[in-house]
Amino acid sequence: GEAVTFFDAVGGEPTFRRLVEEFYAGIAADPLLRPMYPEEDLGPAADRMQLFLMQYWGGPNTYSAQRGHPRLRMRHAPFRIGAAERDAWLRHMRRAVDSLDLPPALATELWNYLERAAYFMVNDMADP
Ligand code: HEM
Repeated sequence: GEAVTFFDAVGGEPTFRRLVEEFYAGIAADPLLRPMYPEEDLGPAADRMQLFLMQYWGGPNTYSAQRGHPRLRMRHAPFRIGAAERDAWLRHMRRAVDSLDLPPALATELWNYLERAAYFMVNDMADP
């Protein structure tokens, strides 16, 4: 039969909505990261993140329909991302992934991607 995507395996759109809601609750309260977000309302940023992750894992391509090619390193260039920002981002994401209570193999696959992506997004290596 048809291959089941990771998107389907973890429960589809509601799972990504919960992940991103939990993550952005952490961002909203973070003194280092919150000031980096240009908009007063974090809702639109959360929507972009949710749509990107859904698309990445085999769900609908709504992200690219609205935003074009992800080019995430380029889109993060305006923000100074050093080790401290990366680690804070990953701390909120770790909590958000844990909150999903996924089967361990799926949680690990999701986490490994997010951790790699966060290291890839660092654009200021001067920060030790
Ligand atoms: C956008 C910070 C890593 C995915 C943004 C924005 C900020 C930010 C400030 C602008 C908010 C907005 O959309 O208006 C950071 C920091 C990171 C990080 C500090 C630390 C490493 C990541 C990673 C991913 C990601 C690892 C993907 C796995 C996105 C997406 C957007 C975004 C999809 C919206 C892009 C768009 O369509 O404009 N990020 N980010 N970010 N970030 Fe990150």
